[in-house]
Amino acid sequence: MSNLKAAITGIQGWVPDYVLDNKELEQMVDTTDDWITTRTGIKERRILKGKGLGTSDMAVEAIKGLLKKTNTHPEEVDLIICATVTPDMQFPATANIVADKIGAKNAFGYDLNAACSGFIYALTTASKFVETGTHKKVIVIGADKMSSIIDYTDRATCIIFGDGAGAVMLEPTEDEVGIMDAVLHADGSGRHFLHQKAGGSVKPATTETVLAREHYVYQEGKTVFKFAVSEMANAAVDIMNRNQLTADDVAWLVPHQANKRIIDATANRMGVSTDKVMINIERYGNTTNGTIPLCLWEWEHQLQKGDNLVLAAFGGGFTWGAVYIKWAYNT
Ligand code: UT7
Repeated sequence: MSNLKAAITGIQGWVPDYVLDNKELEQMVDTTDDWITTRTGIKERRILKGKGLGTSDMAVEAIKGLLKKTNTHPEEVDLIICATVTPDMQFPATANIVADKIGAKNAFGYDLNAACSGFIYALTTASKFVETGTHKKVIVIGADKMSSIIDYTDRATCIIFGDGAGAVMLEPTEDEVGIMDAVLHADGSGRHFLHQKAGGSVKPATTETVLAREHYVYQEGKTVFKFAVSEMANAAVDIMNRNQLTADDVAWLVPHQANKRIIDATANRMGVSTDKVMINIERYGNTTNGTIPLCLWEWEHQLQKGDNLVLAAFGGGFTWGAVYIKWAYNT
């Protein structure tokens, strides 16, 4: 067994300029700023505008900054994993498109779909390539252009989601830092409550599916909320117990940003005070795979080498889990 750990050695995020705020949504659907704020914590979200722009374009912007920060030449990158539910196209993988766009000629890559838990699934998967010593520079992307699959006539979903991307570099280290542990779960029977009805092999696109608006996100919010609020907290508490971490030991909770009430419940169960919770849901909404790396990016300057971070997520599938990271560097 190798003693290598996979350490995050850089993080970069990117969000589009266009701000879709609650006031604008009030003009689009029957909702209010007050309802959205109290039920979700969201005030605004970013939307990628521009013809021909997709998830890979946001990922590329994040990676450009990441390569610069980590002083990495694109040809040094040997693996790219892209967590997304909004790939540029059904195939090939967005990771391949990104690799081409950034000139990562020596990297292989693939996409990973675990809905809102995708980033923690991808981070865990990537860490295995690094820990075995076979891969030295691995980029994990969490990116989604959710606006491409949101029905802006459906008030139950359009108020929640936004666009954004984040990317981390993983490299091997012999220090006791990096990805320390992960608990990942899935329960496919939850698929009925959060999915896209058409566009897959079961129901390919037809005029009827388009007219029935079946290519958009469908969510039974209350049911998803019920599972998310208990399982995200269970996973976070589980990883703390497995690693003998008390609430005092946890420097930061980095939660998926689906709903402020779910985040608060998770922090509460962990016994972690609000000043140790990364929350930017009010500005970006739920960017699906982008939420956790966008938090890490915005808090990077406050992180210290050795800090214990607990990442936690819940999403469609259902999928959920938590990752324990010992932060590897001071900015
Ligand atoms: O990230 C992936 C995982 N996803 C999640 O974790 C999301 C989990 N779910 C949620 O965050 C919440 O369920 C929502 C934010 C989606 C909805 O909040 P809720 O408190 O569960 O509301 P609800 O769906 O139970 O709806 C309550 C009421 C309903 O009206 P009636 O039936 O009580 O008259 C809805 O029609 O609020 C109504 N409503 C709205 N009203 C104003 C639903 N959406 C809206 C809206 N504006 N946008």
